[in-house]
Amino acid sequence: MSGDRHNTGRIEGETTELPWFRTGVVYQVYVRSFADANGDGTGDINGLRSRLGYLRDLGVDAIWVNPWYRSPLNDGGYDVADYRDIEPRYGTLDDAEALITEAHEHGIRVVTDLVPNHTSSEHAWFQEALAAPPGDPSRSRYHILPGTGPDGSEPPNDWTSVFGGPAWKRLPDGEWYLHLFDDTQPDLNWANREVRDEFLAILRFWLDRGADGFRVDVAHGLAKDMTYPDVGAPTGELISAAKKAGHPFWDRDEVHPIIREWRAVLDEYDDKMMVAEAWVDPHRLSLYLRPDEYHQSFAFDFLSTDWDATDMQKVIAESLADAAAVGSAATWVLSNHDVVRHATRYGLPKGTDWRAWLLDGPHDLLDADLGVERARAAALLMLALPGAVYLYQGEELGLGEVWDLPEDVLDDPVWEQSGRRRKGRDGCRVPVPWTTDGPSFGFGEGAPWLPQPADFGPLSVEAQAGVEASALELYRTALRLRSEHLVDDDQLEWLDAPDGVLGFRRGGGVECWVNFEGQPMPLPEGRSVIVASGQVDGVLPAGSAVWLV
Ligand code: GLC
Repeated sequence: MSGDRHNTGRIEGETTELPWFRTGVVYQVYVRSFADANGDGTGDINGLRSRLGYLRDLGVDAIWVNPWYRSPLNDGGYDVADYRDIEPRYGTLDDAEALITEAHEHGIRVVTDLVPNHTSSEHAWFQEALAAPPGDPSRSRYHILPGTGPDGSEPPNDWTSVFGGPAWKRLPDGEWYLHLFDDTQPDLNWANREVRDEFLAILRFWLDRGADGFRVDVAHGLAKDMTYPDVGAPTGELISAAKKAGHPFWDRDEVHPIIREWRAVLDEYDDKMMVAEAWVDPHRLSLYLRPDEYHQSFAFDFLSTDWDATDMQKVIAESLADAAAVGSAATWVLSNHDVVRHATRYGLPKGTDWRAWLLDGPHDLLDADLGVERARAAALLMLALPGAVYLYQGEELGLGEVWDLPEDVLDDPVWEQSGRRRKGRDGCRVPVPWTTDGPSFGFGEGAPWLPQPADFGPLSVEAQAGVEASALELYRTALRLRSEHLVDDDQLEWLDAPDGVLGFRRGGGVECWVNFEGQPMPLPEGRSVIVASGQVDGVLPAGSAVWLV
């Protein structure tokens, strides 16, 4: 496993400092589940404000806050009713502005979530469209069409929703509207100039309030084939189904002019960025990373790869090369609010469909301790790579998926919309444990909106802080060492390694070794360990990683 050297995009001899996001560590805050200041069981902005010191001490450069806008929360806030106001359960616009100011005082930037593919059905525009007759211009902000069949009682085509079931719902007057997600999330029509202008104004609204950037939801959606062709069901069930060119609603070329308009707005300000949630063919990802488009796009292939040295090396090398080809850098992520937490994924046999496993099992396939051990090693792998890193709240505590949530507490629309065939994403959204005891382990005073398992106490921040071998201290140490040794350049050289092991050297000389499933590997002579994911004693066992200088 030796190989070539990757120049990951930086111009030879360039002396200007890289912008912060090129190497930044961004911590994702699912605000509903992070910290609850007012005791109503739902996390809020003031709870987040109270934990900024924790995030500063962890060593992150920025936070990405999941949607905090006014919303019925049918899809955890990805159903936005007003893009210029805050959901009252989370706080007020003043709270959000205070959060941005205080985060900046802590040296932490704030990335907000932009949800452009759809609004909530409670958004004023959709309400206006509902009240208007067919043919009214207000309807053309969405995809609202007559049905098919003799009496129009069949949907316009065969598209299906990502959450399951048809992607069309009939209005009382007989027309149908498109919803690629929940039926309370009507898709906006991006061929409509008014829609485009509205989002330029929304960007300015938040930039003027100090936001440092945007994570853009369903960035590969937006543009639809306006001839609405049938494609053969199921078309949407996987948000990552966009693997072929010319798909009628994923990853269409018409999305790029939209992005360029946004980028032009960001470039009017100093030092702003945007990151795409684009589940596309990895080789098309670089289109989103061209100099006048996104600054970053998540390398979801890295997240989706099993615990396997060969496969991991391949996706890492490809992500680095693809980003470098357009002068950009890779953006690594292992977990987020949509996927089974990686401490659980890595405890499942290779090839397990973890989305289905949540409900279907068999649950004794899971080796939870193994998953946690590998997740620690994966953190050192990810944090040693050139590029940016996104952490999902709780991964620094080694939290696994709460896969056994009872069905009667499930909140994710996936559960109902899939006809209860898929359990959904609640298991990675369970509120964070801050203290060893207490009614919600320090999350808040009241019962949390999703129940926490009893074993969250020993995983809490309180239980781990200052404990040398804990996941929290591992992350704190790795983040500190990363900022000292790994952010000055973006060179990576693969090293010869035995089967099942990956090794690479970064430009500054730090080596990272990860033993996925190989024989215990004697560490190279003459170097010292600066951080290890587990016990090493001169030999790197399977399921562990080290950084050497
Ligand atoms: C994105 C979000 C996900 C949401 C969906 C619809 O994938 O990350 O949580 O359900 O878009 O907005």
